[in-house]
Amino acid sequence: MVSPVPDLQTLQNFYRNQLHEGDRAFHDWYRFILSFPPHLVRAYIDQFGLTADAMILDPFCGTGTTLVEAKKCGIPAMGIEANPMAHFASQTKNYWQLTPERVMAGVDRVLAQAIAEPVTQDLLRFTPEQEALLLKNSICDRPLHQCLLLANAIAELPDPLVQNLCKLALADVAVQTASNLKFGPEVGIRRTKVEDADVLAAWQLKVTEMAADLGQVQGQAMAITRCDRGDARRLSLACAPESIDAVITSPPYPNEKDYTRTTRLESVLLGFLRNQQDLRHLKQSLLRSNTRNVFSADQDDAWIAENPNVLEVAAAIEERKHALQKTSGFERLYSRVVTLYFGGMKRHLADLRPILRPGAQLAYVVGDQASFLQVLVRTGELLADVAESLGYEVVSLDLFRTRVSSKTGEHLREEVVRLQWRGGHTHRQNGEESLY
Ligand SMILES: C[S@@+](CC[C@H](N)C(=O)[O-])C[C@H]1O[C@@H](n2cnc3c(N)ncnc32)[C@H](O)[C@@H]1O
Repeated sequence: MVSPVPDLQTLQNFYRNQLHEGDRAFHDWYRFILSFPPHLVRAYIDQFGLTADAMILDPFCGTGTTLVEAKKCGIPAMGIEANPMAHFASQTKNYWQLTPERVMAGVDRVLAQAIAEPVTQDLLRFTPEQEALLLKNSICDRPLHQCLLLANAIAELPDPLVQNLCKLALADVAVQTASNLKFGPEVGIRRTKVEDADVLAAWQLKVTEMAADLGQVQGQAMAITRCDRGDARRLSLACAPESIDAVITSPPYPNEKDYTRTTRLESVLLGFLRNQQDLRHLKQSLLRSNTRNVFSADQDDAWIAENPNVLEVAAAIEERKHALQKTSGFERLYSRVVTLYFGGMKRHLADLRPILRPGAQLAYVVGDQASFLQVLVRTGELLADVAESLGYEVVSLDLFRTRVSSKTGEHLREEVVRLQWRGGHTHRQNGEESLY
C-alpha cells in the first residue's frame, strides 16, 4: 500500500520539532520523545536578549536541551529534573571537561572486557523484578545480553566521569539500536523485532562521536551549566533569591501519557529503577499529569480552588463522564488529573517567584490536549490564567506548532506561554502558605 503524502502542515509541524543537523553535537548524546528542539531554545535566548551575565533556569529540564543550548551560547544555566534517568542524561551532557583521549581509553578497556567474557550457552538476562518493570518484548535476548555485557564492563571502569559517558551511550544504544521500542508518541513495541543488532559496534560508534564532540570544545572557555535532581514545585531552596533572569522550559502536559514509560528500559538497564517501589517513588515525585500518577494523598488541587477557568474544564469532564456513563477507575480520575496538574503548576509558579530577578522573562512550551473524554483542555490559556493570578504578566501565547488530535482529528495548539515577572510583591495569595 502506498502511504499517503503528508500535507504541508504535517511536514511543517514535523520539521519544527526536529533536531537540525547542525545541532547534533552534545544534544544528540541522548534525547527522548519529550525533548523539544534546540532551535526553539535559541529563539527565546535571542528574543529575551540573554547574554553571558544572565542565568537561565529550566525547572523541568528533561534531557537538558535548554542547558546544552545555553552552554553552546555561553550562558550559565541550571536545570531541575525529577526523573533520575533524565537527570543523569542532563548532567552528563553538560560535562564537557573530558578529553577525547581519556574517553577512548575507557572505550578500549570496556570493549576488551566485554569481548573477553567467556562464551557460554547462558545469556545474561534481567531479573524477574526488573523484567516486571518493562513493556513485554521491549528487547530480545541477544541484544539484551550484549547490553548487559557492556553494562558490567562499564561498571568496572575506574574513572567515574568516563563511566558516566559510557553509560549514557549505552542508554541511547539500548533504546535506538538494541530494543524493539517505538515512540509515536506513545511507547510501543515494533512489529519486526530486533534479534541480531551489533550492540557493541553501535556503542563504540556512539562513544566515539561523543568523544569527537568533546574534542571540538577542548581549551574553550565554557559557561557553567548544571542539573540538580529535584522537584519543580519546591524550587526556592535550590536557587538563591532573585538569581534567575529567564526560564525556558517544557513541563509535562495533562494527558494520559505515563511519562515514566518513556525511559523505562534504560532506567532498568542502568539501575535507576530496580523494583516496583522505585517506580512508585518516581511517579510520586512527578507533577501529576495522567491517571497513573495520581495518589490518594495528593493535594495540589487545593491550589486552584480559586481559578474558575480550570474548575470549569474539570466540571466539563465530569459532565461528559456522566453523560457517557463512564465508570472505569481511570475515567473517574480524569477531572482530578486536570485539577492536580494545574494546581501543581501553580505551586511551581508560586515557589519560583522569590528566585526570579525583577524583570525576569519566562517561556513555557505546552500543548492543548483532548485526552480526557475529548474535552478540550487549552493548556496554554489555562496556564497563563493561573500565572496571572499569581502576579505574573502574560506577555503572549506564541504558536509553536499544531498537532492533530488522535482522538478528535482536531488541530491542537502547542504554544509558548510567555510571562514576565515584574517583582516587588512575592506575597502569597489565596492562603497559599497554609497549604504546604
Ligand atoms: C516535556 S519533558 C521536558 C523535556 C525537555 N525540554 C527536553 O528537551 O528533554 C518534562 C520533564 O519534566 C519532568 N518532571 C515532571 N515532574 C517534575 C517535577 N515535579 N519536577 C521536576 N521535573 C519534573 C519529567 O520527568 C520530564 O523529564
